[in-house]
Amino acid sequence: MPPIPLVELNNGTKIPIIGHAMTVEACDATKGWMLTAIQAGYRHIDTALLYGTEKAIGEAIRESGIPREEFFITTKLPFNRQDRVAESFDLSLRNLGMDYVDLYLMHWPMAIPYRGAWLDLPRDADGSVITIDSPTFNESYAEMEKIYASGRAKAIGVSNFSIKTLEELFQTATVVPAVNQIERHPYLAESDLIAYHKRKGIATEAYSPGGHGNTVREDLIIKEIAAKHGVSPTQVILAWQIAGGVIIIPKSDKEQRQKDNINLPTLDEEDVEKINGLDRGERLCNRIDKNGKFWGWTKERLGW
Ligand SMILES: NC(=O)c1ccc[n+]([C@@H]2O[C@H](COP(=O)([O-])OP(=O)(O)OC[C@H]3O[C@@H](n4cnc5c(N)ncnc54)[C@H](OP(=O)(O)O)[C@@H]3O)[C@@H](O)[C@H]2O)c1
Repeated sequence: MPPIPLVELNNGTKIPIIGHAMTVEACDATKGWMLTAIQAGYRHIDTALLYGTEKAIGEAIRESGIPREEFFITTKLPFNRQDRVAESFDLSLRNLGMDYVDLYLMHWPMAIPYRGAWLDLPRDADGSVITIDSPTFNESYAEMEKIYASGRAKAIGVSNFSIKTLEELFQTATVVPAVNQIERHPYLAESDLIAYHKRKGIATEAYSPGGHGNTVREDLIIKEIAAKHGVSPTQVILAWQIAGGVIIIPKSDKEQRQKDNINLPTLDEEDVEKINGLDRGERLCNRIDKNGKFWGWTKERLGW
């Protein structure tokens, strides 16, 4: 299998265009499928303090015998630790057993009070997550900039930011985020946001790149293109992402799928156009709740 192509970020750091994502999972289970992913050729691994998988990733990398420098490791600042950035970052490094990460992302723009375990989130009488106004994401990002200056994160960026929240961030940021990691798939193409990223020098990274669940994978147009190329619907969706220059982080705990997800067909212009036509602005991973909120923020506040 040839190496996965690299994309240059706005500070010269290079990131493999396909990474392997993580779910919230027991470390022991993760380590096993992380090792098969490394054997398949993945060198870019996406995790987060919230997922609880940092330790397993560090162990799998050490067990693989491949030098740390050959990997691109991303981890993220949790929304309930926006007021303790330095401490959270140190904890992530300790979990990973590493002295630097390649990319440190702010996981979400909102700040939620810290209660220890991340699943123990404070909620109001309506069941919505309670958020706090201080620190602002501008203030937390300023703390991330200090980590970047120290060299312990080779690049910094954000996740789940919109044009609106990025504009707010730019009022104070001195380091342009290298990446914005967002939900993106054929039903949520995010063309305006991606055009904005290009103007600002921000790389787009897609999570839920296969469409989160089976809805997009079962779309008749996707299936038709998959049959034409003799590949799976997931491979077609991922190939469409790559055709758009988007970095992707598919996740599979199955060895064959891990291999398939880096062995993608080259789509014809006509295939790409057909898939572009499927966009319906639909969030499949992050659905707004019955109170009109997501993680305690309204659609308007999120800029969705
Ligand atoms: N930044 C954020 O806020 C944020 C939010 C949500 C998710 N994420 C990240 O993004 C990752 C991916 O999100 P997602 O789970 O919604 O992504 P997805 O890529 O749309 O779906 C992953 C699912 O697809 C299945 N799959 C993978 N490859 C396949 C293939 N070749 N054929 C058929 N099925 C396949 C996997 O099942 P098997 O494992 O059974 O193969 C898995 O359940 C998460 O793991 C997480 O790390 C980030």
